[in-house]
Amino acid sequence: MMPKQTTKCRKILVTSALPYANGPIHLGHLVEYIQTDIWTRFQKMRGHECYYVCADDAHGTAIMLKAEELGVTAEELIAQVHTEHEEDFQGFLVQFDNYYSTHTKENRELSALIYNRLRDSGHIAVREIIQAFDPEKNLFLSDRYIKGSCPKCKIEGQYGDNCEACGATYSPLDLINPVSTISGATPIEKTSMHYFFKLPEFSEFLKKWTRDGHLQSEVANKLNEWLVSGLHEWDISRDAPYFGFEIPGAPGKYFYVWLDAPIGYMASFKNLCDRSNLKFEDFWDKESSAELYHFIGKDIINFHALFWPAMLHGANFRTPTKICVHGFLTINGKKMSKSRGTFITAQSYLQNLNPEYLRYYFASKFSAGVDDLDLNLDDFMQKVNSDLIGKIVNIASRCSNFITKGNDGVLSTTIEDESLWLQITGAAESIANHYENREFGKAMRAIMAQADAANEYIAFKEPWKLAKDPEQRQAVLDICSLGINMFRVLMVYLKPVLPAMSEVVEGFLNEKLSWSGLSQPLINHKINAFEPLMQRIEQSQINSMLTANNALVTAHLDQHKKVSEHMTLEAKFEPAPIEKIAAEINFDDFIKVDLRVALITKAGYVEGADRLLRLTISIGSETRSILSGIRSCYEPKDLEGRLTVIVANLAPRKMRFGVSEGMVLAAGDNDGIYLLSPDSGAKPGQRIT
Ligand code: MSP
Ligand code: ZN
Repeated sequence: MMPKQTTKCRKILVTSALPYANGPIHLGHLVEYIQTDIWTRFQKMRGHECYYVCADDAHGTAIMLKAEELGVTAEELIAQVHTEHEEDFQGFLVQFDNYYSTHTKENRELSALIYNRLRDSGHIAVREIIQAFDPEKNLFLSDRYIKGSCPKCKIEGQYGDNCEACGATYSPLDLINPVSTISGATPIEKTSMHYFFKLPEFSEFLKKWTRDGHLQSEVANKLNEWLVSGLHEWDISRDAPYFGFEIPGAPGKYFYVWLDAPIGYMASFKNLCDRSNLKFEDFWDKESSAELYHFIGKDIINFHALFWPAMLHGANFRTPTKICVHGFLTINGKKMSKSRGTFITAQSYLQNLNPEYLRYYFASKFSAGVDDLDLNLDDFMQKVNSDLIGKIVNIASRCSNFITKGNDGVLSTTIEDESLWLQITGAAESIANHYENREFGKAMRAIMAQADAANEYIAFKEPWKLAKDPEQRQAVLDICSLGINMFRVLMVYLKPVLPAMSEVVEGFLNEKLSWSGLSQPLINHKINAFEPLMQRIEQSQINSMLTANNALVTAHLDQHKKVSEHMTLEAKFEPAPIEKIAAEINFDDFIKVDLRVALITKAGYVEGADRLLRLTISIGSETRSILSGIRSCYEPKDLEGRLTVIVANLAPRKMRFGVSEGMVLAAGDNDGIYLLSPDSGAKPGQRIT
């Protein structure tokens, strides 16, 4: 059930999943943090009381082993990673109200409180289990740390409890020739007391809760399969040595990392409350009217949509309003994988590219569903350049000069085209609904449709032409003022996605971009000089990101050779070729080309040829007829009377539409064609050397 969109101020607490404190943030993670950040920025902008908290997930065997490998304590490792994660998030403009850790006093207390409440209500069972044990390391081994040959098909090198080759599932203790991947020792079987959360006691509660509008329907359907086949008790304890919290009343037993991780959401918020005048109970009490949203990836649904609501319910806390599940990121169609080198870190990206490119690209791909999304690097460059630079920045850069230079920076007192203005501001509510429903892709398409309308208006009015006529001064001001006003509205719509660019725009417009200011245009308002807002993405930036990243991944693999000989950089991304400078020529070659200043005396269409114009050209003593492929970018009438440059000694070429006696020089690629012209004063026929 969607909370009704009212004008009333809502209280909203938002979280993203807590990243593990043993590795860097990568672009896959950022799918989630950027999605959540856009949503919370939108809620704040709409005037709601909204908090976004997160933390490092600091516990567990992986972190303990990683610290050991690096020769530091676990505390030192998580402190170091905490700093790095914070830098990465800041780099991508992900703005938490609090970024905390699960290894904190608040989390220890809340974990104990919840566990004690569950135990006191009889929801905890204790019994002995048999487990694999590493006799050299004196450590119980979870499935992922045991390797051996599949008991069914005998293929070597299988991890854990299932075979990648034949699909068989088994107990890791049944592997043939099992070894501990930590020490290489042969594991033995050992018994130990474990603590269980009696999840089946919550079956009826969960059957109802998962159908109560807290989940996307595809998620609810998936969970239903598990609920129907029957839930199992959940093992929440681990034996020492373990980096985590000791279970109250159970010496040597620790909470499994996934028990205290979601409680980390509460702990981070508790820490925020203690530093401000917020009240924890207002958000977590059973009767709380605040909304609680957890944004997570599809790999951790069971923890958030089964265990977590059951734990909260059993411990007499409120349950989440919504679990918002997203899909996984692929890059150029490949799964992100460290071992395969298809894994791009936040830092590799940030050292080469503007974070708002990625924020916009992700936004344009997000939906409310759980489908995976692909970062195709060619599409990324093309989309960002064409939408943000070509459509949005373009409006301001085309209009601003006529106001800052032409009218001392003061916008017109009228709105030149009332119906266009109403159309563009009228899109606000539907764009807001798309944001609210996490349909950011739809929001971006709706915004770009309005940007297209704004650009069409300016292209049609051609203020740069009117500006040549002093009598049209007011008209130019009116047109460009509407242009700037439309740009302002589009930037309000984009502000949750592009917070840094919005700040620069606020300086330029001399006004804070706000949703509530939308309906009132800026009239007779002074703006500041236009500053470049965003540069185009160049292929070389993407290449240098990939090169830097490949080096990083190779170093990582070298370091881990001993446990991972089988890993290769088989699928790593190769930088795309950049257009090369042509083969070198000497001066004698160059001087053979006779370049001349030419006057276009006549220009016209060529029947049947949709790319060509026929130009009549004067180079002083001679007149030539040249066919030129510039029709898509030039109107014949605009060319007549203009100077350009031609190759004058090119042998006449017979083409399908006639003979061409020379070649006009123009720069060009997919984005446009730009005819060369000499500075004023040059005369037709002059040689260029
Ligand atoms: N520590 C747990 C979460 C505990 S929450 C109480 C964890 N950490 S994680 O670092 O592995 O992942 C953090 C989040 O990033 C998860 O929601 C995960 O789904 C998401 N992603 C990690 N890799 C991803 C992609 N390649 N694509 C999209 N999201 C990804 O899980
Ligand atoms: Zn097998």
